[in-house]
Amino acid sequence: MAKASPSLFACSECGYSSGRWFGRCPGCGEFGTLVEESPPGLRAAAGPARPLLRLVDVEVEEAERIPTGVPELDRVLGGGLVPASLVLVGGEPGVGKSTLLLSALAAISQHRRALLVTGEESVAQVKLRAARLGGAESVEILAETELETVCATLERERPAVCVIDSIQTLYAAELGSAPGSVAQVREAAARLLRVAKENGVAVFLVGHVTKDGSVAGPRVLEHLVDCVLQFEGDRYRAHRILRAAKNRFGSTNEIGVFEMTGTGLVGVPDPSELFGRSEAGEIGAAVACALEGTRPILLEIQALVSPTDLAMPRRVATGVDPKRLAMIVAVLGRHARLGLGQADVFVNVAGGVRIDEPGADLAVALAIASAARGVAVKDGLAAFGELGLTGRLRAATQAERRLEECAKLGFRAVLVPQGTPARPTLALVEAETVREALREGLGEAGPEAD
Ligand code: TYD
Ligand code: MG
Repeated sequence: MAKASPSLFACSECGYSSGRWFGRCPGCGEFGTLVEESPPGLRAAAGPARPLLRLVDVEVEEAERIPTGVPELDRVLGGGLVPASLVLVGGEPGVGKSTLLLSALAAISQHRRALLVTGEESVAQVKLRAARLGGAESVEILAETELETVCATLERERPAVCVIDSIQTLYAAELGSAPGSVAQVREAAARLLRVAKENGVAVFLVGHVTKDGSVAGPRVLEHLVDCVLQFEGDRYRAHRILRAAKNRFGSTNEIGVFEMTGTGLVGVPDPSELFGRSEAGEIGAAVACALEGTRPILLEIQALVSPTDLAMPRRVATGVDPKRLAMIVAVLGRHARLGLGQADVFVNVAGGVRIDEPGADLAVALAIASAARGVAVKDGLAAFGELGLTGRLRAATQAERRLEECAKLGFRAVLVPQGTPARPTLALVEAETVREALREGLGEAGPEAD
């Protein structure tokens, strides 16, 4: 007979687990988040040993990927859905997870069996949504929250693709804890993983994310699943961005951009059109050609410089790393004689996009200088390049792809670091230092300019 295992306590925020209870989680410092888990089922005693294989003898059949019918989703997955894989799709409530996955199921159901397991919405609610999206007539549906029943149904029916909406609603009675708890979520994912692999069912798990961005509970799932996709949005705008935070079958660099419309999510294959719209002659605005993964994207950077009496002037960045902004402001002060010591500086990336690569530095610097001097950036000019602490510009990666994007979107000239390879249809304005870049990039200088 097996001994009763001791209790285990797990944090519902970060997944930290311990043999004793703490009021404050030693893992993440949150209070009151440790909950008791039922002890994990004891494994069978050591069985017979198994023969080993050498890698050379392993036969790999590259399974053909399943197109989801949503090109943006396919790209983020790395070229379609891998059969029998487990994909976690996280996002805040209302961002459009159910809508996105129902659209995918609708397209998949044209050629394969596609099942929606709904624990959040009734069959009637799903039907109403499906009617808005169209084409979902062949999607099969199961309104169920009992884990055992869901797994048994999957084993019997073996659809090619199944969406579990959401993982937090599934419930295994024998665990005793509430649906959505770490123990429940982990158990559900582990069981579904087995069912997926054994029966060749590709499973999307929908997971709700808390405000701070962690998939509630499901953070503990990230190591278990093959892909983790994050669906992010801007509450006030219609577009949504899908990114891969983990992908066993592809790069994590791709993003998918969608717009939420009255008839569901529509892919935006050319996000630059959406984000790069800029009014000619506007003071404090510059267009950056940044990279989002492998995809170049044009973004409007806006800056506002306003006089202040604060001893510590404010540097407020939205969409740009605050440390990067502080650095750019310092470089402008030191190497371009742009004194901002008595000014608050606000920088914003239009469209709610976040930039995390240094190639946008130059456009940020241009926007700030434009705002500070009251001079617009030259008409039809985009910019990219990294700013060094010495005031020198450094070449940005994948310059050719960026230039191609600028040309495609009708820019006539691009301000770039010296040494950027030329491109026929586009005028390159090269600059060696930030000071030279401001001289080249800004229009007629006002009285304060040097
Ligand atoms: P939903 O997919 O339910 O979000 P989630 O599953 O992530 O919680 O989508 C929520 C929002 O999308 C909801 O506020 C309504 C809106 N929506 C549209 O604008 N158009 C549509 O065609 C659909 C189906 C939803
Ligand atoms: Mg939903």
